[in-house]
Amino acid sequence: MSAVLKLTDLQPTPDDISGDVLAGLSRHPKRLPSKYFYDRRGSELFEEITRQPEYYLTRIELALLEASMAQIAEAVGARAHVVEYGSGSGRKTRILLDGLDDPVAYTPIEISRSALLASVERLDREFGDVEVLPVCADFTQPVPLPRPRRAADHALVFFPGSTLGNFTDTEAVRLLRAMHQTMGNRGGALLGIDLQKSPAIIEPAYNDANGVTAKFTLNLLARLNRDIGSDFDLDGFAHRAEYVENAGRIETFLVSRRAQDVTVEGHVFHFGAGEAMQVEYSQKYTDAGFSGLAGLAGLKVVRAWNDPQDWFGLRLLRRD
Ligand code: TRP
Repeated sequence: MSAVLKLTDLQPTPDDISGDVLAGLSRHPKRLPSKYFYDRRGSELFEEITRQPEYYLTRIELALLEASMAQIAEAVGARAHVVEYGSGSGRKTRILLDGLDDPVAYTPIEISRSALLASVERLDREFGDVEVLPVCADFTQPVPLPRPRRAADHALVFFPGSTLGNFTDTEAVRLLRAMHQTMGNRGGALLGIDLQKSPAIIEPAYNDANGVTAKFTLNLLARLNRDIGSDFDLDGFAHRAEYVENAGRIETFLVSRRAQDVTVEGHVFHFGAGEAMQVEYSQKYTDAGFSGLAGLAGLKVVRAWNDPQDWFGLRLLRRD
């Protein structure tokens, strides 16, 4: 059977890019929705970010996953149906599927049909030993899982990369509640979370010397120009990311280099010189903070693994 035929399409509501952008630009301060970062070019640039020396997150998470894999396998148990939020982070997924005890199936959940289709063939080739059952759906909602040929003992949701931190706390709790439903009462969830530490380490990760992160944030404007016909001048905006210590998060902005007007769907928006438009949060967690969010979703941390410097953590959640 061809890989494409196995795809379950739950027909998630298509994104309303124009509506989201118009709503964000009408706020004070202005905002752009960060979920639109990951077009083809954005995904390539993000891959490049993960290879920058300052971007410690991916490197440390990979090493931590490898070093903890035997303990993770023991804690998770045999015959898991592994469910990844996003269309397969490649190396991390491989380590997990190789290290778990007899995983039954692998389901990437991805809202973008094209991104999912593009990865399906690669996934089937790479994970040929495990049944691949991709689902096109919005993972911020509960997702009914396809039934593997061989019965699974439980589901394990895998959500690496500290992507939870790109949601506000309110959204994160909503997402964790949906995750709780998706994984079911017997299931678990393995999340990668970036931990609070010195801004001298965190800030450079979002301001790499090669300027890849700046290209990544500016690509959002290029994507909008192409997809909704806006006329953002890419040279008219600058990337800025700063760690706000009392909030424990990186806040990323696009700053207008001069006074200018931008037209989106016939609506004109004025930017003052130096005006900062907010595009992304990257929450950094304390143990108490993360457990608190999990608790609000009826989940508890049953196992925790940190790298030796306590920069990044993996957390196994189960129902409380
Ligand atoms: N999940 C990643 C993070 O928060 C996403 C990311 C990396 C990102 N670099 C970024 C988002 C720069 C916006 C801007 O670290």
